[in-house]
Amino acid sequence: MTSRRAGADNLSAPIAIGGITVDPPLVLGPMAGTTNRVFRMLCRRGGAGLVCGEMVSVNAIVQGNERTHEMLATFPGEHPVSMQLFGSEPAIVRDAVPAIVEAGADIVDINMGCSVPKVRRNGAGVALMGEPKLAAELTAAAVEASRVPVTVKIRAGLTVDEDSYVEFARRMQDAGAAAVTVHWRAASQGFRGTPGWEPIARVASALDVPVIGSGDVQRPEDAPRMMRETGCDGVMIARGAWGRPWLFGQAAAALRGDEPAPEPGIEVRLGVALLHAQMLVLDAGERIALHEMRAQMHHYVKGLPRAGHFRREANQLHALKELYELTVGYAAEVRAEASSEGAP
Ligand SMILES: Cc1cc2nc3c(=O)[nH]c(=O)nc-3n(C[C@H](O)[C@H](O)[C@H](O)COP(=O)(O)O)c2cc1C
Repeated sequence: MTSRRAGADNLSAPIAIGGITVDPPLVLGPMAGTTNRVFRMLCRRGGAGLVCGEMVSVNAIVQGNERTHEMLATFPGEHPVSMQLFGSEPAIVRDAVPAIVEAGADIVDINMGCSVPKVRRNGAGVALMGEPKLAAELTAAAVEASRVPVTVKIRAGLTVDEDSYVEFARRMQDAGAAAVTVHWRAASQGFRGTPGWEPIARVASALDVPVIGSGDVQRPEDAPRMMRETGCDGVMIARGAWGRPWLFGQAAAALRGDEPAPEPGIEVRLGVALLHAQMLVLDAGERIALHEMRAQMHHYVKGLPRAGHFRREANQLHALKELYELTVGYAAEVRAEASSEGAP
């Protein structure tokens, strides 16, 4: 497994994070509210080489919070899976890590990029980028407590035009991080800013461990472009996977230099949406599943005719059977419309 930076031109070659093989080098990014084990499983089946769970609080883990422990649970078929923690006290991180590994994580990731006030105010997430010494202690504490590789996810610093994030990333590597993911935006940019992957390139050229690039990979061809432009070893896809778990397979084809499969038709899109709903019902119960599927259906119908009307109707539903009927009826209508428009 060669490093991209050693001049490898085989972009689809697997990467190794500690002892964990990521094949293809495409990673589902952690997203609070989306990347539960059902969505992770769909993305693995869709072609991701590694999937990440959303951040969980180390304080909640050590306090035995039941909901947090449920969030750590993994499915047998989704591995390798990385579970992400957030916190700001090395002793608590040390105590929480064994529970994360015990729940099935193949990699433990530390969030040093979240800029949500609730997280930042407590000195966690991106606040750690202003405290490199503490961040290194946190990383070292996690490494010490973990029998699986520990990784770190950062942003390009706290504000634009500062470059201390490169040194920061190097310090995390020295503290034992087996890989570093870089979301190219600074904390001050939130989710705004004209896409510019330069910060990923700077970290990639400074580190020996694998660097994964994050931010604005939406189309299959963006994945090889990010690798070529930045020299990163792996590509993370977060929002691009919303309602499109098959994007990973398309991006893997683009990495191999093959023509990616075309966007699937309505049958596959809505079929996967119903599979997603059904798996969530089995995993979390009908009430939680239907609530969660409101946001997810929004993504699955993006760009389809009268998607707004469908979403409003879907938002009213409380039973899987109703969602199934609405979706099947909608697919039939859209297909009938398309065939009448195509008729001579
Ligand atoms: C709704 C939402 C929730 C997110 N939650 C997390 C999280 O829990 N942990 C984390 O490190 N990043 C989180 N992120 C950041 C993403 O992992 C990713 O770095 C960022 O969205 C940029 O990549 P993208 O353009 O592919 O979405 C979240 C992003 C979104 C949009």
